This record gives sequence, C-alpha cells and structure tokens, in this order.
Amino acid sequence: MTQAMADFVGMGASHWVIFFAVYSFIGWIIEVIYRSSIQRRFINAGFLYGMFIPIYGFGALFVLVVYSFIRDFPDLLELLVYGVVLTAVEYAVGFLFEKIFKLKLWDYSNNRFNLHGRICLLFSLFWTALALVFVTFIHPVVARYLLVVDERHLTVAAFMFLAYMGIDVVFSVSSITAFRNRIAYLYDEYFNLSNVEIEKILNSFQRLRSAFPNLNRYIDSKINIEIKNRVNSMVKSVQEKIFQDLEGRRPFEKEFYDIVRDICEHEEFLRLKGFFHHNSSIYDHVRDVAYFSYQACKLLKLDYRSAARGAMLHDFFLYDWRNHDEPELARDKFHGFEHPRIALENAAKYFKLNDIERDIIVKHMWPLTLVPPKYKESFIVTFADKYLSSKEFLDEFARSRARKRNGRPRMKARTAAEEKE
Ligand SMILES: [Fe+2]
Ligand SMILES: [Fe+2]
Repeated sequence: MTQAMADFVGMGASHWVIFFAVYSFIGWIIEVIYRSSIQRRFINAGFLYGMFIPIYGFGALFVLVVYSFIRDFPDLLELLVYGVVLTAVEYAVGFLFEKIFKLKLWDYSNNRFNLHGRICLLFSLFWTALALVFVTFIHPVVARYLLVVDERHLTVAAFMFLAYMGIDVVFSVSSITAFRNRIAYLYDEYFNLSNVEIEKILNSFQRLRSAFPNLNRYIDSKINIEIKNRVNSMVKSVQEKIFQDLEGRRPFEKEFYDIVRDICEHEEFLRLKGFFHHNSSIYDHVRDVAYFSYQACKLLKLDYRSAARGAMLHDFFLYDWRNHDEPELARDKFHGFEHPRIALENAAKYFKLNDIERDIIVKHMWPLTLVPPKYKESFIVTFADKYLSSKEFLDEFARSRARKRNGRPRMKARTAAEEKE
C-alpha cells in the first residue's frame, strides 16, 4: 500500500485540483449507482447540478494528506486512520450543512451505532473499505496518468474546473435555499394556494428530493405535521355536529346518499360488507369516513362530492388484511403501504374517478406515504380515516374486553347475502 501511495508525492496545486475533480466525479458515479439501484430509476445524485460530489473529493484529498504523516504505520493502523478521517469529514459536512442550510441531507438515526444521525458504524466501515480500494487501486492509476500530462494543460484544466465548480455551487446553493423558502411558503399559504400551485411547488424539487430522500422526511416533520395540525383544528370545529349524525341521532342526509348511491349499490362494492375492519365491516368504515369527509368539506366550502366519493372508495380492497389473503399481495409486502394502490385499481375498474378522488385514495395513508396529499379534500379524508379508525379500534377493544368478561364470541362482518336479507 505504501509503495502505491508514493506516486502522489511532489505534485503541484493543479494536480490537487484535478484529483479533487476526478474523485468528486468517481463519488458521483458511486452515489448514482447506489441511489438509482434503490429507487430503480436514474437519479442524479448529490446536491450539485453537475456530475461531481465534493464530499468524495475532499475525503480523497484528506486521505492523501494524512498519508504523508502515517506512511510508516502498519497497514491495519493506516486503514483505521483513513476510516476515522473519512468519518470525521462526513460528520463535519453533515454538521455544516445543518448549521448553514438548516437541512439534514442524510440521516442515519435509524442505523445502529450512529452519532447525531450524521455518521454511523456501517457507513464508516464502508468508507474504510472504499479508502482501501482508493489507495490500492484508484489513486496509483490516476496519479500515473496525471504525471505524464503537460503541466500547462493541467493548469488550464484546473482553472476551467474551478470556474465551472464556482458557477455550479452558486446555482446549487440557491436551489437549496429556494427549496427551504418554497416549503416555508407552502406551509404559510397552504390553504390559500390552489391545488395546481401546491402540486407545482412539490414537483419543482423532484430532483433534490430523489437525490436526498431524507428531504421528504424534512417535509414530513416540518410541513406535514403543521398542515395536519391546522386540518385537525379546522375539522375540530365541525366534529361535534358530524358525530351527532354518525352516532345515529340524525339520519344521513339524502344528498350524501345521492352522491355515493351508485357506489353503495354496486355489486362488487357490496362485497366489502363481508370483510371485517376495526369493529365492523370495511363497508361501514368507508361509509362513516365518507360521511364525515362530506360534512367537513361541505362546512369548509371544499369539493364535498369528490371527498365523499373518494372516501367511499379509499379502502376498496377485497381481502382480509389480518390474514394477508390477497393472492396478488406478496408476503413481503406490507398491507399498510400496498392497499391504497389496490383500492385505486379496484375503484378505477368500476367507477370513473377525477384527480381529487384518485389523490384521496392513493394518499389516504399519509404520512405513511411520505409525499403529502395534493388536495385539501385528501387531507380531510386522511384525518377522518385516522380519527374514525382509532375510534372504531378503541370501541372494538372495549367491547372485546367486555365480551371476554361475559364469555361471548366476537362479532363477525356481515356477508352481502346477510345484508340483503
Ligand atoms: Fe386504508
Ligand atoms: Fe380506512
């Protein structure tokens, strides 16, 4: 290892700049492969627009500098030092990014042996292995090629790279700043923005969000929770009125049934009466969620028709989720994540859906689906679903405890045939 590394000693400033460029580019390739394989599509990794990830360039330069101090160390100790240095670089970059831009681009909080989510043992081991590959195979080859390049050409290339890098950094930093500003604007103005505007804002940072999936968590923690709180307080004001209806003290309005009649009477949809959900059947659950959403949206002057229909169809999955008995739902798939897609497929098969209804169905598990709903109506349904589900669940829990005490069996969902009788 020591012999191979000796190649770089005595090189000038232009060499260092070109090393930085080459290793930032190699880092970009590593990240693109990693990110694209996870997301199964091409992802332009890194926060720069160009094909460079500077943290890799800096990491490589640090390894080269450190080498001159530890060249006589035993190989194992040398590797350990590289691991520590690269981990320190990663921590420092993460720390600075959080302090300057108030954003966490990556977060290892869920990994074991992490420090403030900025570094973790698993990735430190990976960086150490990468350092081994770097000093043994990559740097000796790159250094050998650079040594034969004319010094003047190298200087021109280094200046061109620095100029390009300067421009890219300016544009990329302003895009990160714009991201934060737009998200803050989205939060402040959420209920004054049209659905098209909200969608536009969320889509305008698609590249950044794909390159750094952790930014979705930022949206989730900073924005979604705020919006959720607002929706909750909006709905709270109409809750009492709606619950009187749901408790059966007043009949459901004719207008509500007129809106959802074709769905309620559809042969395939009626099968939902045969599947148990929380404390009764999926049918009862979706009807309650639909009625709640219809009432809330009506009071809030939103599109209550789409809310009622979307909510009616939000759990249109025809299997017992407790037994995971859907033939097309693979064992390793999680019902919580998958059923909105299945419900949307079923709904689209039997009914004509508009954009709001589609969004309601596909996003009703938010914030489990990280991207927030596009429409205010979807937020209302999301709220109604969670609110009523937890209420149904707690009711069933209380009932099952009472049954246990009295020694009576559990209630089953009605079949469609039983329902007709
Ligand atoms: Fe659901
Ligand atoms: Fe539901």
